[in-house]
Amino acid sequence: MSTGTLDRIGVVGLGAMGSGIAQLAVEAGYEVVGREVTTDLADAAVARIGHFLSRKVEKGALDQAARDAAVSRLTVTTDVGRLEQCELVIEAIVEELEPKRELFAALEDVVAPTAVLATNTSALSVTEIAAATRAPGRVVGMHFFNPAPLMPLVEVVRAELTADEAVETAVAVAERLGKVVVRCHDTPGFVVNRVLIPLLNDCVRVLDEARVTPDALDTAMRNGAGWPMGPCTLIDLVGIDVHVHASEALYEKLREPRMAPPPRLVAMRNAGLLGRKRGRGFYRYDG
Ligand code: 3HC
Repeated sequence: MSTGTLDRIGVVGLGAMGSGIAQLAVEAGYEVVGREVTTDLADAAVARIGHFLSRKVEKGALDQAARDAAVSRLTVTTDVGRLEQCELVIEAIVEELEPKRELFAALEDVVAPTAVLATNTSALSVTEIAAATRAPGRVVGMHFFNPAPLMPLVEVVRAELTADEAVETAVAVAERLGKVVVRCHDTPGFVVNRVLIPLLNDCVRVLDEARVTPDALDTAMRNGAGWPMGPCTLIDLVGIDVHVHASEALYEKLREPRMAPPPRLVAMRNAGLLGRKRGRGFYRYDG
């Protein structure tokens, strides 16, 4: 495994997180192969990345030639086999253990023995994902934050059997993407989500306890605690389903009542109010 000479990155799952990671990688000069399950989803990710890069051009943060060069470094596919040449693959698929384990086992048969396999999981165990492979030393966590192109942090997570080279590769790539890196071990929620998930759950409980609206709660936390966006806006951005799932995963591991998703969020998830991506969560969104 090499840290400095890596050119080609695979990103599996091009939803909000994966497309953000792919965008960062093409901007940083990597060749990127993005994999989605359907061509429609893959094309939507290309459009999304093109849109955000164009916005940067319009705002004078990127020149047109650099934008076009970045877009040309992105290839999308529905075929996992096309990741063959990738020296690092970052997985950002659905937050469920079994699909991730199946993917890592499949990736191992596709990429070179020296390639590093990273997961962007928020709250699952990197060690349990790595255990699905024959060479768990190459598996590492690279946890980006939503929206990935804007949030500076990447947690580089060392699982039980992660090799030093895999950690160093993940750190070197994250730094080349312009990120601030915090290295940590594979504990439930790592650093940020261990703190943020129960805190957001408390915020949702306060809605009913203090009988305030989501807008009033958001106003309070922005103006009284200096949060850049209020908790309801943030949960809508992350996705109600993603947040509920991460809460359940933490609760399963740590058994602290604050980790359990509040019933109000579970009801929203069950009703399909998934936040910004579906046009409605605590708030309604156009387009
Ligand atoms: N991808 C790429 N570019 C994006 C984007 C995205 N998803 N979203 C916005 N942008 C671009 C847009 O082009 C936007 O400009 P435009 O609206 O004019 O087109 C541009 O970024 C900049 O937006 P703003 O200048 O309006 O950015 P702000 O200064 O308002 O900051 C923020 C936005 C960084 C999101 C800030 O509100 C913030 O820090 N919020 C908190 C977010 C947070 O806490 N995230 C962590 C969530 S927890 C998590 O991710 C863990 C996971 O495991 C669940």
